[in-house]
Amino acid sequence: MHATVTAVVSVLLACHGSSTAAAVAATPAQPLPAGNAAAAVADAATATTTIIPASSFGTQAAFDAAWDYNYPWGTDHNGGARMDKSQSVLDTEANTLTITATPATGQKPTKHGGKTIAIHYLSGAVHAREHITVDRGTTVELAGDFRATVTKGTWPAFWLTAVDGWPPEVDMAEWKGSGKISFNTFNTSSQVAAHDVAYPSPGDFHTIRCVMRDEDGKDVNVQFYMDGKLVTTQVGKGFTGKAMYLIINLQMEGSSGSPGPKTDTEYAARGVSIIAYKS
Ligand SMILES: *[C@@H]1O[C@H](CO)[C@@H](O)[C@H](O)[C@H]1NC(C)=O
Repeated sequence: MHATVTAVVSVLLACHGSSTAAAVAATPAQPLPAGNAAAAVADAATATTTIIPASSFGTQAAFDAAWDYNYPWGTDHNGGARMDKSQSVLDTEANTLTITATPATGQKPTKHGGKTIAIHYLSGAVHAREHITVDRGTTVELAGDFRATVTKGTWPAFWLTAVDGWPPEVDMAEWKGSGKISFNTFNTSSQVAAHDVAYPSPGDFHTIRCVMRDEDGKDVNVQFYMDGKLVTTQVGKGFTGKAMYLIINLQMEGSSGSPGPKTDTEYAARGVSIIAYKS
């Protein structure tokens, strides 16, 4: 999602999901991780802290407890879409959030990285209210099912970015209009692990899962899974203990090329969850 890097690097790999709960191995006696506790629900049987339950798109109240609309910093970022709350719609029966990018005219341009960017769409973003931190000695797992477009000019993403300064950034999945899915970890804007793989059947949901484990009190090991298979492993330098925003958004144009589509584009996320546990 960082414009410099996404344009420069592309490789291959990804992240997937089995049941997050089943993947957790921890003993009941272990204390809970400290950093993610505010909105957390502790499960004494597994010593797992649930930061966001997989049911958070299942009612408006559950959504409002876990998520807020737009980017944490506002409506604009590094592409041709301006986020508007009305473009993010819950289907509570399907436990699904659908974001629609709609062509728009007459919007003021935005500025990013010293550049002026024309706004051609109204689209949507949501972010987790809780900051995500991989604390020393802990693992954080993020997972969900996504139906994402790979059409030129469409740039959906499921990603983490630094609350203070930058990096850390982990792109757990992003689709940059190329037919591929990208998995990226940024040590700096020029030192980037980036892995792209072909994205199968974009009309279907695919399960993305990222397992982020503190390695040594400094660096975070990031495993990216897609549809249950480990696609790539990357290491984030100095990510331990650094707070990150979790964002689900449908940006447009920018790194995904332009012009984008002249009709509506949809991006759907289902059953997104975050858990943390002692490694
Ligand atoms: C990022 O830093 C970590 C820790 O030093 C290192 O293992 C990893 O290879 C670095 N990533 C890149 C792309 O160089």
